[in-house]
Amino acid sequence: MSEPQPIFLSDYRPPAYRVTRTELTFDLDPHATRVKARLHIERHPEHEAGTPLELDGERLVLKRIAIDGQPLEPDEYQVGEAGLVVHRVPKAFLLDTEVEIAPDGNTALSGLYRSSGMFCTQCEAEGFRRITFYPDRPDVMASFSTTVIGDAEREPVLLSNGNPVERGELPGERHFVTWEDPHPKPSYLFALVAGDLRKVEDAFTTMSGRDVTLQIWVEEENLDKTEHAMASLKRAMRWDEQTYGREYDLDLFMIVAVNDFNMGAMENKGLNIFNSAAVLTHPRTATDAAFQRVEGIVAHEYFHNWSGNRVTCRDWFQLSLKEGFTVFRDQCFSADINSAPVKRIEDVAFFRTAQFAEDAGPTAHPVRPDHYIEIGNFYTLTIYEKGAEIVRMLSNLVGKEAFRRGSDLYFERFDGQAVTIEDFVGCMAEASGQDFEQFMRWYSQAGTPQIDAHGEYDYANAEYRLILRQRTPATPGQPEKQALHIPVRLGLVGTKSGRDLPLTLEGETLGTDTVIHLREEEQEFLFTEVSEAPVPSLLRGFSAPVKLHFPYSREDLAFLQAHDTDGFNRWDAGQRLSLLALDDLIAAHRNGVEKVMDPRVVEAFRVLLEAQPDDKAILAQMLTLPSEAYIAEQQPLVDVDAIHAARTFVRQGLALALRDDFLRIYRENQDDAPYAPEPEQIARRSLKNVALAYLMAIEDEDAVQLAREQFEADHNMTDVRHALTLLVHSSRSDIADPALKTFGETWAHDPLVMDQWFAIQVTRPQPDVLDRVRFLMAHPAFSLKNPNKVRALIGTFANQNPVNFHRADGAGYRLLADTVIELNRLNPEIAARLVTPLTHWARFDEDRQALMKGELERIRAEKLSPNVYELVEKALA
Ligand code: ARG
Ligand code: ZN
Repeated sequence: MSEPQPIFLSDYRPPAYRVTRTELTFDLDPHATRVKARLHIERHPEHEAGTPLELDGERLVLKRIAIDGQPLEPDEYQVGEAGLVVHRVPKAFLLDTEVEIAPDGNTALSGLYRSSGMFCTQCEAEGFRRITFYPDRPDVMASFSTTVIGDAEREPVLLSNGNPVERGELPGERHFVTWEDPHPKPSYLFALVAGDLRKVEDAFTTMSGRDVTLQIWVEEENLDKTEHAMASLKRAMRWDEQTYGREYDLDLFMIVAVNDFNMGAMENKGLNIFNSAAVLTHPRTATDAAFQRVEGIVAHEYFHNWSGNRVTCRDWFQLSLKEGFTVFRDQCFSADINSAPVKRIEDVAFFRTAQFAEDAGPTAHPVRPDHYIEIGNFYTLTIYEKGAEIVRMLSNLVGKEAFRRGSDLYFERFDGQAVTIEDFVGCMAEASGQDFEQFMRWYSQAGTPQIDAHGEYDYANAEYRLILRQRTPATPGQPEKQALHIPVRLGLVGTKSGRDLPLTLEGETLGTDTVIHLREEEQEFLFTEVSEAPVPSLLRGFSAPVKLHFPYSREDLAFLQAHDTDGFNRWDAGQRLSLLALDDLIAAHRNGVEKVMDPRVVEAFRVLLEAQPDDKAILAQMLTLPSEAYIAEQQPLVDVDAIHAARTFVRQGLALALRDDFLRIYRENQDDAPYAPEPEQIARRSLKNVALAYLMAIEDEDAVQLAREQFEADHNMTDVRHALTLLVHSSRSDIADPALKTFGETWAHDPLVMDQWFAIQVTRPQPDVLDRVRFLMAHPAFSLKNPNKVRALIGTFANQNPVNFHRADGAGYRLLADTVIELNRLNPEIAARLVTPLTHWARFDEDRQALMKGELERIRAEKLSPNVYELVEKALA
């Protein structure tokens, strides 16, 4: 067997043949589904007669093939592992094929598969070729008609894209429904669902007065978990009308919840398919974070109807065209309906931890990659989140109004087309009159740019000189980097007045908050008429996805935390202050020196706790220390034990010093009102729970009782899960064990709650946890075939329990590698994702490096899927 080969962006050619219309008939059967396809095909005029017709197809058993009604002779075509070639075809013709597929044996969850007894599909990126022979590429767009035939009893509900146009009974207790989707679409947006499902229905009137029926389809027991998703959908539809002028374009919009799903959700035209974890909520089963995640994902998939479906990608290298833009859209939506600064803080905290790590590792790739082996490996934080940061920079650069003109232009000009990132940025350039030539490097250059900044205040001349230097580190395949166009939003905060000072740059007055443009490798900015010594507040709102170094003193940071007018930077100043203190403690731990708590950190926290907070959600964020993963991201060499010890020490130090404040905050924010996933309530809960976590860090006896009461009160899942987590992570097994048992028994019937039950246990910092992971893998509620379970148990352990995953004896690595090897056969996409923590071996000490590489080599010795192959090769390159 030859090694999987990369494909290159530079090899892109338009398709020789296009499909204008696709007519499908599915005769469903778990082991042997028959798929008939009638394709209306035309040769592109630029291609000569005699160009063979090449169709993608995997794991299909061809039963029949005919052109214009004439069955083909065996020598007229050829079927291989990857598809079908017909040697000679007319200029325009009808191709009929019939294939057999086996949904029950499809554990990769790509193509047509079964989940909890129902049939469903996942076609992005290349799943449609597992359903029928087809030019399975996004630049081939056809109108679809789909007839689904199923068992009247087992599959009373038969769904596909568009509108239902016909239904009827068939012999043998079978029935059918025919769906017509008038909007031409690429194959990756095809969807089919069939099963015993119930629906919740609602309606939406669009801005032009059209009535749209909204349906959410679920298993019967989940009918009471759809309210929030439905409300979110309606809000998203309204928001897209108001913010982007985008109206929904079919009479029916459906969402289906399925239990087995590789990702969060999928934007299939008119029939979004969701991982049940991304759509179902109930106060008793879902946390605030889950409610907010559902809101964001429902909006994200809905927004794709324009940014993705009406205007789609020419090829998969352009994936960020739809994903980066749509993530930006869903982030803005969530910011608008919740607290904007908190949303930004959460997004950036996640981004700087996870995307920065990806960008610094062996799988670092540009937002528009120029080659890949397996596109399924490119649904990454870089494509999604860094892509969204680039769109955000564009939006800030051109301003709100020009951005809207640019997006209007983009949607109008390219409606019904498959386009490129240049097309998108071109519209923004046209609408704003700005030049984005240098800016485009953000799409082609991998790696996180670093800005080293310093400044000098000249008292005599009332000048502040700011010097910025940028550098992007080498990444695999890109040793040299060019300077980027980096927008740096800033203010100068006067140390006397505590206020933002008026800014004058090169004679121009700019208000108190402005954006400077770093385009050179090194650039100097001279602010004049600076009446007092300032502390610069740089990169406000995280105005560019970069690492910013400035030699702030701890006093500067405490000052910014108290005075910065930018909420994001106020938070960030606190994070930087904590990181400096943590650095000292990490060093002390490594050197075996006694740890001493920095009083300046205690003081900064005291100020926060004793002020009357105007925004409790922000306060909760400010009181949260950087995560172990983010601390690790700052270290030259990751020492998981020192990081854990240092962070624990700070948490305990703060709890000891500020015990009464935390206790007061807890009590002040207790709330018996019926649960609602609303910003005000969520803020109170998060503040209360942060306080409880500090108190539990010292296992304060009052706190243990409060945690126990909070668990037993059983008021909502946010509080229950938090209390249970604190107890399970403490040494109080006398309370934790019975609580865990009760929780596990109460929710044994609910897979989404059991996922949380797994996650709570495997994040325990105590050293016995690996045995617990093994034990839980044998639990009847666990299954390697269900991606949510794999993520909840193995993924959570490997990614969120650093001290135990990185055990010095390598047992954590071994467990992960064993799981990857098994999953490689079952579900390559999930297996490849799971490998990620091992690929970061270079960040650890030599012994751990050897152990991690050893496991990667053990994986490499297997017969690998292209997905796992690509990752392991990169990691060991
Ligand atoms: N387009 C989907 C979304 O972000 C994700 C599809 C993921 N597909 C995959 N093979 N991983 O909304
Ligand atoms: Zn998406």
